Amino acid sequence: MTQPVRFALAGFGAWGKFHAQSIAENPEARLAAISAPSESSREEARRLYPDALIFEDSLEMIAQADFDIIDIVTPSHMHRVIAVAAMQKGKHVLLEKPMAITLEDCKSIVACAQQYGVHLAVGHELRLSSQWGRIKDIINAGTIGDPQYVLVELSRKPYRQGASGWRYDQSRVGSWVLEEPIHFFDLARWYLEGSGDPVELQAYANSRDPERPTLYDNFSAMFKYANGSYAVVSQTLAAFEHHQTVKVSGTKGALWAAWSGALDRTLEPTAFLKVFDGEKLEDVTLTKQSGEVFELREEIAQCIDMVRFGKKPIATGLDGLWSAGLCLLAEESIRQSKPLPLGELLQF
Ligand SMILES: NC(=O)c1ccc[n+]([C@@H]2O[C@H](COP(=O)([O-])OP(=O)(O)OC[C@H]3O[C@@H](n4cnc5c(N)ncnc54)[C@H](OP(=O)(O)O)[C@@H]3O)[C@@H](O)[C@H]2O)c1
Repeated sequence: MTQPVRFALAGFGAWGKFHAQSIAENPEARLAAISAPSESSREEARRLYPDALIFEDSLEMIAQADFDIIDIVTPSHMHRVIAVAAMQKGKHVLLEKPMAITLEDCKSIVACAQQYGVHLAVGHELRLSSQWGRIKDIINAGTIGDPQYVLVELSRKPYRQGASGWRYDQSRVGSWVLEEPIHFFDLARWYLEGSGDPVELQAYANSRDPERPTLYDNFSAMFKYANGSYAVVSQTLAAFEHHQTVKVSGTKGALWAAWSGALDRTLEPTAFLKVFDGEKLEDVTLTKQSGEVFELREEIAQCIDMVRFGKKPIATGLDGLWSAGLCLLAEESIRQSKPLPLGELLQF
């Protein structure tokens, strides 16, 4: 019988616990090791996963544990150090978004994966969704013609603080654009893949708290392509619950999808996807529930295929680099109050 793929998990916080659960419930996977710096998190990890080795330090885990792939779900500023250490030991990596908080770090992670010949998947799990991923299938089938306009919009309640408040500390979070809008940049660029690479971006943002003027509550960006198509990515954190919308208009038709939950990780969201092919309007039945908790299970399954068969992940290191790069360029556009060319920024 094929041995289960052994996962080491770095980080056992709000999202890391969902990763642990998705790994543990997959019969093809084994949760071999977990690292978390606080005794309280390690205690909980020991209680929930008594068969896993528990470490205080991620680098110690990489040095001592036997595993095939590391799943990195730590605060974002630590992604590079942990990913690079694991890759240097020849381990495959599932790296949460943002892959890193600077472009240089993102590039060094991609280069390291190439140098050591390991697989790197980035946590843009919305691509695996029965709803957001289905949109890509509909676009690929030509149902709405060539997409010319994409809107990805979220309104939600404020972010969680994160372990020791890292999400409200710019030196550790990088920015709030790298937290959630990064998923929307990823989706919009994916939907507009047929238009080539984006050429120009402009962003606007503001904060309602003068104590953190550059951690933006309201953020909007537009980026365009040489053929005239463009995308709008927009988010407000000054709202309530969790409501996401995607609209795509093409040369023939259009589609509209929305997702709503009291919380982002609800197991009972409401969701729909409507497609207009230019003649008739159809309500698409979603084959599975849509939501990040469900997509995470698909992501773990995809990593098992990546380790066993070398199957390319749906979001590669280069996709992670693009998404982080668009976020960082948006921040620069806000600072300079003007549109900026993509230029050489993402040349790799
Ligand atoms: N793809 C998605 O949809 C999605 C969703 C949410 C979050 N994320 C990303 O996932 C990452 C974690 O977010 P979160 O919400 O889970 O944050 P969190 O709740 O603050 O959890 C962070 C965890 O990392 C641990 N940690 C800190 N330093 C560590 C180290 N050196 N080695 C190992 N663990 C360490 C913390 O340990 P203690 O518990 O011991 O303090 C905590 O368990 C972030 O990069 C975030 O952007 C992605």
